[in-house]
Amino acid sequence: MNDTAQRLAWWHEARFGMFIHWGLYTLDGLDAWKMHNMGIPVAEYIRTYEPRFKPDRFDARALADLARQAGCRYVVMGTRHHEGYCLWNTRTTRFNSVAMTPKCDFIRQYVDAVRDAGLGVGFYYSLLDWRYQAHWDGPRRHPDRWKKLVDLVHAQVRELLSDYGQIDILWYDGAWPAHAVPGWGFEPTAAEVAEAWRSGELNRMVRNLQPKILINDRSYLPEDFGTPEQTISPEDRPWELCDTMGDFWGACPHDLNRKTPREIITRLISCVAQGGNMLLNIGPNAAGSIQDWQRQIMLRIGQWMQTNGEAIIGCQGEWSYPFKHRLAPWKTTRKGDTLYMHILRYPGPTFGIGNLHDYWLESARLLATGELLTIQHEPTRDIVSGLPAEAPDEIATVVKITTRPKTEQEKAARVSIGLVDPESEPLS
Ligand code: GLC
Repeated sequence: MNDTAQRLAWWHEARFGMFIHWGLYTLDGLDAWKMHNMGIPVAEYIRTYEPRFKPDRFDARALADLARQAGCRYVVMGTRHHEGYCLWNTRTTRFNSVAMTPKCDFIRQYVDAVRDAGLGVGFYYSLLDWRYQAHWDGPRRHPDRWKKLVDLVHAQVRELLSDYGQIDILWYDGAWPAHAVPGWGFEPTAAEVAEAWRSGELNRMVRNLQPKILINDRSYLPEDFGTPEQTISPEDRPWELCDTMGDFWGACPHDLNRKTPREIITRLISCVAQGGNMLLNIGPNAAGSIQDWQRQIMLRIGQWMQTNGEAIIGCQGEWSYPFKHRLAPWKTTRKGDTLYMHILRYPGPTFGIGNLHDYWLESARLLATGELLTIQHEPTRDIVSGLPAEAPDEIATVVKITTRPKTEQEKAARVSIGLVDPESEPLS
């Protein structure tokens, strides 16, 4: 294993993390993008919201506990979002939760709680800050102002990675050129964006301070892992889907387009079946409480993970047919010689697996009950039987199967279903 693979090993093993979006922007429940989308001037934004930000329900231990109960192995929480409000005791700006109304270092509480719960600790950090004109102007119009902005970012990242002990993940966001306003005056390439933020220098500093840290790809340098957002699009490198439970990241009472536990668990399985991780978001409300519907979803996932977690944690994707077919009634993960069939459309007590060329199935067991199942080998299929008539888990029932590679002889003996010669045996 090279250095990068070694650093990534725990994260690949973990497979499932919890994302937390929470900050000043949570007030009013209009999501994190309101300053931008509703054109709220900075002074008005601060005047309107900051004095009302009194989160007396923020409970980092409850958050860590929920992550653990859901079966997550790591947590990533926002330290500041695009509004620029810092949730830690920064010396770089007064616009932070310690100097201003809450008088609280939420990041300290978060780090302590998540670490004590034995979970990986991640920081989300937005490089951009809408409050600065330099963000809108881009790097070329007033290079001196842009430099100040970038220096501030470097200083904040340095603080975050110096003052809170070992941090496992740095999850950048927001390095993109300002939307809507053609401030940059040119369409930058990824390399030009990375150069503008001095991302190479930034990440070298990060790795110096935290040699074991994993860094995502959103400083416009590839670093350790890719971050497809809201769409499961596997990459040919380590990747993690970041996903919402509704449409928005921050708490929003109008966020009614909610995914069901079935959809979310299926998405988790799909990620792992294709070699990825999943970072599932919750957005506590402005007081700091976890929203009840999000807690319920997390707990339902936890209930499923309690029984089936071994089919997620430490697993890899499965790339052979028929296990990877998009429309198969199952999705499959693998750990060494063990296959986990996550049955999403339950076929009843017996089902066949066709077109299985690579593996010999040796024994099968139901994770839900521990019961041993029967396997019969037929020329065109392998038949698994002995399952209960009704699915033990209405979302996904997992069958654990031990396998070995087929011998050449077994491979040669395999038969496909198209055996009938239409001339000798007309189909009509
Ligand atoms: C997008 C959104 C941002 C959110 C992030 C999480 O980049 O713009 O608000 O924090 O996704 O992945």
